[in-house]
Amino acid sequence: MKIFNLLTQLGLSILIKIVKTPLFLHLKKIKIIICFKSIYILLFFMTKKIWGGRFTQETDNDAENFTSSIKIDKNLYNFDILGSIAHVEMLSKQKVISPSDKSKIIVGLKKILKEIESDNFIFSHELEDIHMNIENSLINKIGTAGKKVHTARSRNDQVATDIKLFIKDTAINLKNDLIKLQKVIIKKSEKNINVIIPFYTHLQRAQPILASHYLLAFFEMFARDIERIDDTIKRLDESPLGACAGSGTSFNIDRFHTSKKLGFKKPTRNSIDSVSDRDYVADSIYTCSIIMMHLSRFCEDLILWNSAEFNFIKIGDSFTTGSSIMPQKKNPDILELIRGKCSLVYGNLISILTNLKGLPLSYNRDLQEDKVPLFSAFETSLDCVRIFSKNLNSIHFNTNHIIKTMDKGFLTATDLADYLAKNNVPFRKAHHITGNIVAYCENNNKNLSSLTLKELQKFSNVIKNDIFNFLSIEKSVSSKKSYGGTSTSNVKNMIIRYKKMLSKSKN
Ligand code: ARG
Repeated sequence: MKIFNLLTQLGLSILIKIVKTPLFLHLKKIKIIICFKSIYILLFFMTKKIWGGRFTQETDNDAENFTSSIKIDKNLYNFDILGSIAHVEMLSKQKVISPSDKSKIIVGLKKILKEIESDNFIFSHELEDIHMNIENSLINKIGTAGKKVHTARSRNDQVATDIKLFIKDTAINLKNDLIKLQKVIIKKSEKNINVIIPFYTHLQRAQPILASHYLLAFFEMFARDIERIDDTIKRLDESPLGACAGSGTSFNIDRFHTSKKLGFKKPTRNSIDSVSDRDYVADSIYTCSIIMMHLSRFCEDLILWNSAEFNFIKIGDSFTTGSSIMPQKKNPDILELIRGKCSLVYGNLISILTNLKGLPLSYNRDLQEDKVPLFSAFETSLDCVRIFSKNLNSIHFNTNHIIKTMDKGFLTATDLADYLAKNNVPFRKAHHITGNIVAYCENNNKNLSSLTLKELQKFSNVIKNDIFNFLSIEKSVSSKKSYGGTSTSNVKNMIIRYKKMLSKSKN
């Protein structure tokens, strides 16, 4: 086996020499290159592993495939390259490697970046993960200098750094998409500022409210989500690079330098924690889970409102789909799918929490499985926030229908009880009297605003003619002036405040 490895190494170095000759460069123009490239790749894969020094047997094929994560973690390529560039710049500053090695490494890494971005990089399972794919390619490109990139570094601190950089980048995109969604909510709220709908408790009609007030409740939820994203980023903003395998290094490195270069606030304080910690993965997926839960609840409301039973809104045709058998159907599939995808993200959260719960310190290979749920949670949340914004933008309130149904459900009963209480009837008694009036209406097929003063006075003599000022839905809404209440003046003020908030956000 050793002889075989020696031969393949030899083959590889001869081939690299051929590849560099002007003749070969000329041949590039003709198809013979394809043949050379294939032999090159074959020999390259047959060479020993980067970590193969102490091994006497080749890795079993199935074991190799099983341990490989390249399909998933190749997404981290740009962060891995950024990390390596910062690392070698620091190594050179600290005189651990020479400036010329540093320059060669950086040129090589930039070439690799271009190759990956133009789809000209061949990812190999045999090289396990993105870190070793890049390192191996670097060594093949620049030779000995490439073998120095991993000085005073381990894949354990490298992968933690890559993931943190990935989260910082992706979470900002998610935040910006949430801000866009908040803008759609404001737009819809302003457009429908006069629309009054019932709000529900226990899915029973409760009181009249502004539709805008309802929509703005979701603005608040997404504002909290944005805070959660900010918190997640703030907490993870420490660079693990230089923690090496988990105990630090005897090389004279400058972790503050790499931390700053990579845009972190400071380096992590404990090398063991640095390579074991995945709290930031759990925080991120939790944040995505809450976003998805908020979206899912919003979807549920819109799905109900879009049904013939509610008929409060119409969703734009571009965001509904038909049935293959029932020609009349127009289904809110996008909203249903978002509601469904929420469960996937919850699954991701359970996955990372379970992965971490029994792990001894410090790095264990189980941690490689953190990327599937992390990437999936972000991808799903980003997709859902984006499509939901478009979907929300397409909705239209069926104002005429809503108005016709507002007299159902005794929506102003609480206003009547409040009227009595304001006229010195203790609230509990006022509640009871109003209950009797509602029962009377039910038995006589009436609603509150159609009762005469005489009928009302049978239940309480404190009721005077001014009662009718309290029983209309418009009056009911405009009277809810308490801080955070649904009165039009409150809601308009809130819209102004929300707009200010949005103009301050760095979007
Ligand atoms: N692919 C690995 C991961 O994602 C990188 C770290 C590997 N470290 C090790 N000691 N095998 O976690």
